[in-house]
Amino acid sequence: MKRISTRQLRKWAGDGRKITMVTCYDATFARLVDAAGVDAILIGDSLGMVIQGHAHTLPVTLDEVIYHCRAVARGCARPHLVGDLPFGTYQGNVDEAVMNAARLMKEGGVQAVKLEGGAHCAPMIERMTRAGIPVMGHLGLTPQSVHQFGGYRIQGKTVDAAERLLADARALQDAGCYALVLEGIPAALAERVSAALAIPTIGIGAGPHCDGQVLVLYDLLGLDGRFAPKFLKKYADLERVVTDAVRAYGEEVKSGAFPAAEHSH
Ligand code: KIV
Repeated sequence: MKRISTRQLRKWAGDGRKITMVTCYDATFARLVDAAGVDAILIGDSLGMVIQGHAHTLPVTLDEVIYHCRAVARGCARPHLVGDLPFGTYQGNVDEAVMNAARLMKEGGVQAVKLEGGAHCAPMIERMTRAGIPVMGHLGLTPQSVHQFGGYRIQGKTVDAAERLLADARALQDAGCYALVLEGIPAALAERVSAALAIPTIGIGAGPHCDGQVLVLYDLLGLDGRFAPKFLKKYADLERVVTDAVRAYGEEVKSGAFPAAEHSH
């Protein structure tokens, strides 16, 4: 089956059909996400936190994202695949940024790359787009700038900051971005940006007015009970499901109830 294209995402947004996107990092979950009918998968550098156990996304390398992209690409046939360019792989010179983006597509098997930042990223987005690399932008509470923000704080709250974000969004669209993630900004600002742009906006912690929504898969599945920000809705309590199942296994091994006759050759 053919993967969902950038063109299809744009058409859906134009038709008012919301785009569904989740992060994913391995083939097993990719298969399940595909079976659940999700439109797009982001192999996000959030893998640094939920897979690798770091406090933030900054340590993630390009090789690590490529490794996870390949696993996801093998696990699903239909969702649109976007690979995240990690911190330090596109902030230097434009040539290096384009080569890193090309590596992510070529070796990772994704259809597009995502990068964080505003108008200052326009030159590299233009070059990537001209090289045939679709680019998804990312504005607002961009996690790679956590140290600059002084923590994970909602962005675009003042009139000036909101105007700057709107100008950045227009600059990213003009540079060639085919879609834009809006993270951690007031719903009213996300509504303004979405109305001002022709490209789809995909929100996380940005209210209901975006053209689509993205969540970190482990968060929506409730795999970490300690993480409960306001923007997150948990659709399952897999922390409990997993710990209960593994505890039951451990108890049955100790008691001798497992393996029973039907599990033995
Ligand atoms: O890395 C990631 O998971 C992301 C999403 C939160 C948008 O960038």
